[in-house]
Amino acid sequence: MSRVLLIVGGGIAAYKACEIVRLLRKAGHGVRCVLTEGGSHFVTAMTLAALSEEEVHTTLWDLKDEAEMGHIQLSRQADLIVVAPATADLLARMAAGLANDLATTLLLATDKPVLAAPAMNVRMWLHPATQRNVSQLRADGITVMEPDEGAMACGEFGPGRLPEPTAIITRIELLLANGPGGSAPQALGTGHRPLVDKHILVTAGPTHEPIDPVRYIANRSSGKQGFAVAEALASLGARVSLVAGPVALATPAGVTRIDVETAREMAAAVDRALPADAAIMVAAVADWRAEGAAEQKLKKAAGGIPSLQLVENPDILATLGHSPNRPRLLVGFAAETEHVVTHARDKLARKGADWIIANDVSGDVMGGDTNTVHLVSAGGVETWEHMPKANVARRLADRIAATLQDPVQPG
Ligand code: CTP
Repeated sequence: MSRVLLIVGGGIAAYKACEIVRLLRKAGHGVRCVLTEGGSHFVTAMTLAALSEEEVHTTLWDLKDEAEMGHIQLSRQADLIVVAPATADLLARMAAGLANDLATTLLLATDKPVLAAPAMNVRMWLHPATQRNVSQLRADGITVMEPDEGAMACGEFGPGRLPEPTAIITRIELLLANGPGGSAPQALGTGHRPLVDKHILVTAGPTHEPIDPVRYIANRSSGKQGFAVAEALASLGARVSLVAGPVALATPAGVTRIDVETAREMAAAVDRALPADAAIMVAAVADWRAEGAAEQKLKKAAGGIPSLQLVENPDILATLGHSPNRPRLLVGFAAETEHVVTHARDKLARKGADWIIANDVSGDVMGGDTNTVHLVSAGGVETWEHMPKANVARRLADRIAATLQDPVQPG
């Protein structure tokens, strides 16, 4: 039996927390609930206590609790902390590291994995502030589920609904079994799983090309867009191999990650991961490397300023585009600072890709959380509105799913 600490935030979806408690108990787990001030306006401590058969905690200032069970102990006694519903406010306070009530204090004090299941109005979810907080939390190693899409209690439509309690339970079981990051993709997702049985290869991040043992050539890619694409594909049921350059991002749930450093290592890892039904090359691969990296640190004293002789790296996308192992759908990304679509069209032909997702990186796209992209294919150019990288990833994943389900060759 595992022990789950369930933090119930303040939103209309709080009533679904009762179902989560019931399902966890039915699966044989112990559940202790913490009800936030906001949450108490939607469900009562009495309901949660009855369902969990445990005392419900509501305040940091309960002296009896501090004597018998301090908040540190409470946060560590559990095997997993689940925040459901995770409201925009709660996510923001978690991302900022605030500890201004019992829930956030526990979340800051814990040494256990944390799962957050968001629920909020669609605009609140899509707001750059919320997306920024979610990215931060994921980078901090917290598993933040994608909310469901659909009609909302407030009358609007879109992403923001609490994932179904059964989907939350599935994710809880995975985390309890494997910890964050490691999980079986077939058990992920919220029901809509059109990519089951598909293997998709994703590259992400920069590459580092050594000059000597302490110096390297790099670029500003953060890996965020590629990781978001891997996560979105996994949530649609795909088996995802993510070949990642050096980035400090948490591995999305259900994704197999292969860490590499140089372009040549990335090329080899891509080759080993084949065959795949689709490959999405989001990585910003260094075009050149230093010829014959020095084995010892280059010293100033050695005389004069060293000159770097560059040699070209393998073009992983182009190689794949012209290989007998070419996945059915091959997608490249193109980072441009001018003539975005013209360059993308040229890359589409040159690299033998089906689509190029082109973006203008002259602003703060690299490292940022939002993106404006153009999908360039033989059929024409589609410009998507400015949106969070997570949404670009979801929309792209949906397109990939639709294309792979279509028996006609993509175009
Ligand atoms: N790419 C690759 N291997 C390389 C260079 C790029 O696989 N050695 C892939 C990237 O992952 C991306 C696409 O090719 O999907 C376009 O990358 P980009 O850097 O924009 O293109 P380049 O070929 O480097 O063109 P240029 O430097 O002229 O912009």
